[in-house]
Amino acid sequence: MRSTSTTAGPPPKECVGPLLRGLAVLRELAAADGRQPLGDLARATALARSTVDRVVSTLARTDYLRVEGRDAVLTPQLMEIGNAYLDACRLPAALGPLADALADSLDESVSIAVPDRDGLRFVHQATRRRALSLTFRIGDLLPAERGAPGALFAADWTQDDWQHWRQRREADPQDTGFPAVPHARGRAAASFEQRTAAARTQDWSVDDQLIEPGLVAVAVPVRDAQGRQVCAVSVVSHTSRHSAESLTNAALPRLRETADAMARALAADPPPAAPGAATTAPWTRAAKEEPGTEFVESLARGLTVLTAFGQGRAQLPLTAVAETTALPRATARRSLLTLQYLGYVTQEGRLFRLTPRVLELGFAHLSGLTLSRIAEPHLVDLVKQVHDSASMAVLVQDDIQYLARVPTTRIMTVNIRVGTRFPAYPTAMGRTLLAGLPAETRAAYLSRAQLKALTDRTVTSPDHLAQILDQVHRDGCALVDEELEEGLRSIAVPLRDHAGHVVAAVNISMHASRRSLEQTRTELLPSLRAAAGRIENDLHVAARYTRVPVA
Ligand code: PHB
Repeated sequence: MRSTSTTAGPPPKECVGPLLRGLAVLRELAAADGRQPLGDLARATALARSTVDRVVSTLARTDYLRVEGRDAVLTPQLMEIGNAYLDACRLPAALGPLADALADSLDESVSIAVPDRDGLRFVHQATRRRALSLTFRIGDLLPAERGAPGALFAADWTQDDWQHWRQRREADPQDTGFPAVPHARGRAAASFEQRTAAARTQDWSVDDQLIEPGLVAVAVPVRDAQGRQVCAVSVVSHTSRHSAESLTNAALPRLRETADAMARALAADPPPAAPGAATTAPWTRAAKEEPGTEFVESLARGLTVLTAFGQGRAQLPLTAVAETTALPRATARRSLLTLQYLGYVTQEGRLFRLTPRVLELGFAHLSGLTLSRIAEPHLVDLVKQVHDSASMAVLVQDDIQYLARVPTTRIMTVNIRVGTRFPAYPTAMGRTLLAGLPAETRAAYLSRAQLKALTDRTVTSPDHLAQILDQVHRDGCALVDEELEEGLRSIAVPLRDHAGHVVAAVNISMHASRRSLEQTRTELLPSLRAAAGRIENDLHVAARYTRVPVA
């Protein structure tokens, strides 16, 4: 069993069929860790192969997946749906810094989780993992009975909720529908009702190795002004440092202080509405592409409804959803109804909001991607366009180090692979990265670097190099001709994070005889910049709530 069943009964007549099917494909891909052959997708979703093909090509046009050979692969852009929920609920922004401060002060991991039906879902992680083998990601779902916050959340459950829980336990006693946790042995479920009763009276809850041997945690609830549990904050440790009891004694006082501060932060004025997301919405992106490829309009429109929510737009009436997405009111209404049926949207009175369940759409998997993995498909596309090799590198001390490399079939004199290091000064990626350094760091480099002549063209004067770096900074690109090795030319541009800091460089390298210098700029720079822009887009979406390591 892959994904936990979330719906009761058949879909209402007004549901948008293509949206149901598109989300089934996304869920299946997420459960398969982001990649699945199209044939397997058809089998797993019980959809006709031709339907899967249409859905996949529509999702590709919204940039939520790409097709690689026979596989469909989820892309970081899909994280915009989870980001919309996290923006809307404000929990990471308002409470994350308090969780991080608690992790610092206790020197233990701290996490924030929200209730999700009979499970709990992580929305923030401040990780100090040492002896722990398991690390949960933002978006991971745990069965309520196996995490410390679960007993707190279950204290508010109705008879219906308990009934749903028992049915789930019977249908899946080993928790195979929860890919983030090791299979269950039943112990957690047996004590759950008792632990829930204790959590209700104590207002804290402990996990004594319910997930795996060694892992212990203690959690307290964070309540809103009406006393409702909004989330729970946990301190997580390992039996090599703490028993469940000693962790509770050591952490509970500061955990309670933090939860109080979190409640105050939530009660403070909400931030102003951020501008609507409609300009970058999936529907807009898909509509921009050339017509011709198979395209299911109602699927793209339905997905766009999810991105109508965000910071300052946590709860929206139908009219606002229709306005933000520029969709006809009837289309927005049927899409909301469909999303509500699937548990991605809830309605209170006239207002709709996103639920944390939208994070099941690949968020946890995609938040594990490195910058290299994010860049690689874009470098592959670039190489297909320009028929020369493309790479990405970062600065490591005074060298560049390759993080990704996509060679052409053309034979090059240099043998470069991931991990290869070259001195920064005679390379285009090195100059791009040096030009992006703060002035003092750059000056320190220039005063200590040994600029050796590697060919008779290598710039070896620090003053000359300083001038070149200024120019690279102004141009936003570097072109280096045969300074590292005879016959080798490279053109590079920076990759910037959301704050504008240069985090890596990408280049195209070629034999110098392939083009004139002028042609190198005019023919290659537009494609190179476009590829870098696509990598940056993905990086900015992926890094909104998670740290993206370079490799
Ligand atoms: C975690 O954040 O990793 C965590 C939280 C609560 C638990 C176990 C692990 O009970």
